[in-house]
Amino acid sequence: MTVTIKTPDEQQKMREAGVAAGRVLTMIEPHVKAGVSTDELNRICHDYIVKDLGCIPAPLNYGAAPGRPAFPKSICTSVNHVVCHGIPGPKVLKKGDVINIDVTVIKDGFHGDTSRMFYVGEPSILARRLTEATREAMFEGIRVVRPGTRLGDIGHAIQRYVEQRGFSIVREYCGHGIGRVFHEDPQVLHYGRPGTGLELQAGMTFTIEPMVNAGRPEVKLLPDGWTVVTKDHSLSAQWEHTVLVTATGYEILTLREDEI
Ligand code: MF3
Ligand code: CO
Ligand code: CO
Repeated sequence: MTVTIKTPDEQQKMREAGVAAGRVLTMIEPHVKAGVSTDELNRICHDYIVKDLGCIPAPLNYGAAPGRPAFPKSICTSVNHVVCHGIPGPKVLKKGDVINIDVTVIKDGFHGDTSRMFYVGEPSILARRLTEATREAMFEGIRVVRPGTRLGDIGHAIQRYVEQRGFSIVREYCGHGIGRVFHEDPQVLHYGRPGTGLELQAGMTFTIEPMVNAGRPEVKLLPDGWTVVTKDHSLSAQWEHTVLVTATGYEILTLREDEI
């Protein structure tokens, strides 16, 4: 495992990439409404990332592997029982849907990666509870980040919060180191045992991005090679931030003004 420690210069570039990624989510919010297609959301985000921010959308053409095509779009759009990596397409949003939009931009060679849930009209009581619990679980994980914390402490904080509320953590996908490379070491699991795993050091940058299901934790990959859904078709939610380990704690690199 090779975990990169970012220099102060690199940290500044990560900060700028993080702010840019967050701006995409702020920009897209008023467009997330009943009647819009996920393709249209992709087009608006793509144009904003390229033309307004002067960045590169990292998902576009990313991740080709034997038996899996490259990701064909610029953002991920994961609606209702889609856990993550939903591919924008002709699907039209309707009232009561919940959607995660996941944005990753490359700015001056560095990645910023962040996602959030949106409600389309009024959500069900369950959708609201799941969405809010997932966001709070992400922050439970973020709040323990500081030098000396272990990765298992982050995973444990998230898992405890989620399971106390009767929801389940997806095991197959995790947070990740990030920098010049989109997905680098370490893997940041959203479950774990306190006091285990890699010890954090100042200058590390990684994402925390729990995926939480209302029902069973198991997931299934669709034949498109990307879309991940809950096996039992229960609702799923996800939130994601990119964080920097500082001398005294953490800095959320993708924090938006609308969150403060
Ligand atoms: N942004 C996702 C993550 O949080 C990864 C998307 S990869 C893609 O790690 F190819 F599906 F875009
Ligand atoms: Co990520
Ligand atoms: Co992401």
